[in-house]
Amino acid sequence: MQFIDLITQKNRIRSSLMQRLEEIVDHGKFIMGPEVGELELRLAAYTGSRFCVSCSSGTDALLMPLLAKGIGPGDAVITTPFTFIATAEVVCLAGAVPVFADIDPSTFNIDPGCISGAVSAARERGLNPKAIIPVDLFGLPADYERLEAVAADHGLWILEDAAQSFGSSYRGRRAGSFGLAAATSFFPAKPLGCYGDGGAVFTDDEELDRLLRSVRVHGSGADKYSNDRIGINGRLDSIQAAVLLEKLMIFDEELAARQQVADAYSSRLREKLVVPEVPDGSVSAWAQYSLLARSDEERSAIMGALQKEEIPSAIYYKIPLHLQKAFDSLGYRQGDFPVSEEMSRRVFSLPMHPYLSEGEIAKICSVVAGCL
Ligand SMILES: Cc1ncc(COP(=O)(O)O)c(C=O)c1O
Repeated sequence: MQFIDLITQKNRIRSSLMQRLEEIVDHGKFIMGPEVGELELRLAAYTGSRFCVSCSSGTDALLMPLLAKGIGPGDAVITTPFTFIATAEVVCLAGAVPVFADIDPSTFNIDPGCISGAVSAARERGLNPKAIIPVDLFGLPADYERLEAVAADHGLWILEDAAQSFGSSYRGRRAGSFGLAAATSFFPAKPLGCYGDGGAVFTDDEELDRLLRSVRVHGSGADKYSNDRIGINGRLDSIQAAVLLEKLMIFDEELAARQQVADAYSSRLREKLVVPEVPDGSVSAWAQYSLLARSDEERSAIMGALQKEEIPSAIYYKIPLHLQKAFDSLGYRQGDFPVSEEMSRRVFSLPMHPYLSEGEIAKICSVVAGCL
């Protein structure tokens, strides 16, 4: 059994994709070719954003707005410690300091009620809090209504980390449309993934769109060899854009299938474990189906039993970022973010993709239930 099945999906799009790939081999515009422009228009329309700037990964999609907005030494960016390292890593790459705020245990997303405390903590350290990076973890959008209110109170701008949530929505708006800018990832395992690395930034701000396009290509100015600012090599290649264009054709069907898988898991496991709940008004993209065991020991027993049956499972995230060695210099300690720490001890994820069969779901659930 696959944790994420990309083979069945590939078989659905293979012939039209191969045709597109042949066209690229023939036209020879391998980087930022016509497929990239076509993709940007399609993605912007999908999210409801005015502008989409594609780029070479989700990490670069987070870094580019920070560079474009001049985030640097002396600045603080508030984010969650319960996420993939890239979310906070980019803050350090820009020369600023990540300051963490704990999460809401019912959604795994940053708790808007913890932002003011993080702003004060940043100021006590002599930093200037400038922005918040909420993460739409496991595919579920963060609570943007509350986050926008608290951001406005403190004069902060929001960069949505939608790396896991492309296709989800919150109160009728699609992920990728929140904050001043939003970043997503097209890493192959994401709900919408390419066949390599890729990402995109979304914004409604025309000036920011212009700056992002410059940062993406080494801070280019009037032409490629006039450089107005420090940027990166963040270009997307045409082959990845072609893969994404083909996958977009079946993406909504896949999202509906993911929802069915999540419903099937939850109806079988709700009485036995803490299953993921989607708040009213939100729709998850179900990048992961993550539940909570009662303890670390119970989680190990469940994952061990699944492994015996050759069923893959995973832990996102075993070590919250404030306890990662890479962030030792930030000076955090065990106990600083108790909710994130408890989730790290209890959370685990089951196989999740649009092609999981009813039989596979029943088998997974019976193995899990057999441990409890
Ligand atoms: C929450 C989050 N942010 C950022 C990233 C970085 O994306 P990429 O791997 O495309 O650089 C990821 C990818 O795993 C992620 O899950």
